[in-house]
Amino acid sequence: MKKLSASLLFVTLALVVLNIATLRELSRLDRHIAALEKDVSTTKAGRTYRLADAMAVNQRWFDKLGRAGTAQNWELARFYSEQLENNVNEMIAAKVVAEGQDVGALLNSMLVPVLQDLRKTIAPDAGAPTAFAERFTAVVNSCNHCHDATKRSFIKIVAPSGESEWAQDFRAKP
Ligand code: HEC
Repeated sequence: MKKLSASLLFVTLALVVLNIATLRELSRLDRHIAALEKDVSTTKAGRTYRLADAMAVNQRWFDKLGRAGTAQNWELARFYSEQLENNVNEMIAAKVVAEGQDVGALLNSMLVPVLQDLRKTIAPDAGAPTAFAERFTAVVNSCNHCHDATKRSFIKIVAPSGESEWAQDFRAKP
């Protein structure tokens, strides 16, 4: 009987010690997690997404897409249309707010549908030049409508042509 209670006491003590060790380990892990959370939030805050950079890339794909379509080089046009759509999807994923406007939501409602329509005119073998030109104009309008909506009317996009190498009208509004 004595032997039994001695071993019970031993087991209890062992459990208490184990418990203390576990609690200490838990609190160490808690501190570790808190430090990691802090690191993550400072990293996030430090990495500001630059919408203007993404838009510059947008303009590049848009410009080349227009030129490839006008040249009726459908293989090339398809390539640029994919690049443009991928870039737009990345912009949506970035969840940017500009002038209080949800840029992702605007891109989804204003630009994505017209880009999808445009893609349909770039058929696998031969595209439809007239339809392409029409849908491309719709894309230009969509770019500019959104620049108006986000107080960026001064960024006026135009269909690429020989006149400007930037698919952009740099003149001030009359
Ligand atoms: C969601 C609305 C929206 C749509 C749609 C949109 N833009 Fe923008 N764009 C903006 C905003 C907002 C800025 C300003 C970003 C800033 O202030 O950092 C901008 C900036 C730009 C810039 C300035 C960067 C530079 O290199 O000069 C260009 C060019 C541009 N957009 C091109 C386009 C083109 C081309 C399209 C259509 C294919 C387009 N944008 C569609 C909202 C939009």
